[in-house]
Amino acid sequence: MSDCAVKRIIFTADEIGRRVGELAASLAADYPPGELATVAILKGSFVFVADLARQLSAHDVHLAIDFLTLASYGRGSVSPGRVRIEEDIALNVRDRDVLLVDDILDTGHTLRTAVDLLRGHGARSVRTCVLLDKAARRQVDIHADYVGFPCPDVFVVGYGLDYAGRFRELPYVGAISMPGGKCSGG
Ligand code: IMP
Ligand code: MG
Repeated sequence: MSDCAVKRIIFTADEIGRRVGELAASLAADYPPGELATVAILKGSFVFVADLARQLSAHDVHLAIDFLTLASYGRGSVSPGRVRIEEDIALNVRDRDVLLVDDILDTGHTLRTAVDLLRGHGARSVRTCVLLDKAARRQVDIHADYVGFPCPDVFVVGYGLDYAGRFRELPYVGAISMPGGKCSGG
């Protein structure tokens, strides 16, 4: 694991910054000015949602934000598709239009679990916004309403995304590999 390194940059910091600005403009066209109830999925989305919040404030949309901590069991081989709720939200979303934010939509189990949870809490509507969409890996019939970039089917890190807890602080999104092979798991 310690040999694991970023092999190539997939989305640069500039590209991400521009795209987040465009997403904020789209969201501001769809939601009225004022407060927008937002739930971001931890840990991966903390960088994305922070940039999105600041871009949206320029459009007079202000996030009333809370966080939902989810963890997937056994990415890869063991019990794929099981998502554990580690910490639920405290924000009252009953009868509110909620924006759900995540870093990456992969198999879809995480987003499905989060949407169902928010509906269970009485949200009037739930729209989803992800920075990256790995459509090729989908196992659940779900799509995001707002997508930053379609993502190739490689394991990516940076801009909040980790491999075994590392690389979240990188300003870009990159693919990882180890000498003589690729990093597995995560
Ligand atoms: P899903 O439940 O398979 O859609 O996975 C979504 C979650 O898995 C994301 O919130 C990420 O935390 C994580 N994930 C999926 N693909 C990657 C990746 O390529 N790099 C880092 N994390 C990933
Ligand atoms: Mg995540």
